[in-house]
Amino acid sequence: MKCLKTLLAALCITFSAGALAQAWPARNITWIVPFAAGGPTDAMARDIADKVSKQMGQVIVIENAAGAGGTIGAAKAARATPDGYTFLVGHMGYMGAGPALYKKLSYDPVKDFDAVFRFPDTPLVLLVGKSSPYKSAADLIAAAKAAPGKVNFSNAGLGSSSHLIAALFEAKAGIDVTQVAYKGAAPAINDLIAGQVDVMFDQSNTALPQVQGGRLTALALTSTSPMPQQYPGVPPLAEKVLPGFEAATWYGLYAPKGVPREVVQKMHQAYLKALGDKEWTRRMGSQGILLLPDASYAPEAFAKHTASEVERWRKVVTDAKIQLD
Ligand code: MLT
Repeated sequence: MKCLKTLLAALCITFSAGALAQAWPARNITWIVPFAAGGPTDAMARDIADKVSKQMGQVIVIENAAGAGGTIGAAKAARATPDGYTFLVGHMGYMGAGPALYKKLSYDPVKDFDAVFRFPDTPLVLLVGKSSPYKSAADLIAAAKAAPGKVNFSNAGLGSSSHLIAALFEAKAGIDVTQVAYKGAAPAINDLIAGQVDVMFDQSNTALPQVQGGRLTALALTSTSPMPQQYPGVPPLAEKVLPGFEAATWYGLYAPKGVPREVVQKMHQAYLKALGDKEWTRRMGSQGILLLPDASYAPEAFAKHTASEVERWRKVVTDAKIQLD
């Protein structure tokens, strides 16, 4: 009798998951973005959500759940019902470095999520305000060496990519700066423009209008190659100042663990179809967004990437001595 009940329950779960996936998506879908609106993660998520929702014929709502470097929104997504209606826009910080940065993280990027698809990557750019005395990355390093702790870096929150890349820059350059945390890159960059802070690493695509509009100056790139189309004359940090320095933020979509497989597949397929829009990919490329080979976007490849990044960051965080709790 007990066996029969167990079998019926298993059949019932399989049937309801199958039925749900067939009807999916029957209503609006939510993507949680764990940073303030107007920043790089939000901009990338809105752009991709717009294209994917058109493919699926269903609205994707962006919910900004900002704070603690993305970990608040990620924890919320991990606790959501895995019914295909709530997803997390994840990135390198809280889904890669998070477990190494926080001893007490309430979610596990690998065990508590199913990877859905990876977004394209973006390199970062080292930025200063228009009236900054620093005219190059070398100037900035020299000033920070002369006065430890005096140069302020704004970042999008502790554990965000702007914070992590600045911490790696600090470790690699052998300097000591003060990091000022915000709830996202949008408020952090506003204070950089207003002269409240001295320096910031931001994603090269969303910083571009500020640089082109003359509100900020780009000193260096975290890519190993220059970006002459977007940032003419701006050298990679690796070129002379910090050989071997290379960083780009990776992003992607996750569902709470246990989401029906068909939902993951349909979402991934909708994204691949959207990427077939050459005008869109040309526009992303012209902003310096790094398009990847198709296989990298797949759920399995993205799950492997997440797991390997969690391991990679354990070493990076230990070597750079970044601990947040
Ligand atoms: C980051 O630095 O992690 C992101 O730029 C945060 C954001 O999207 O606001």
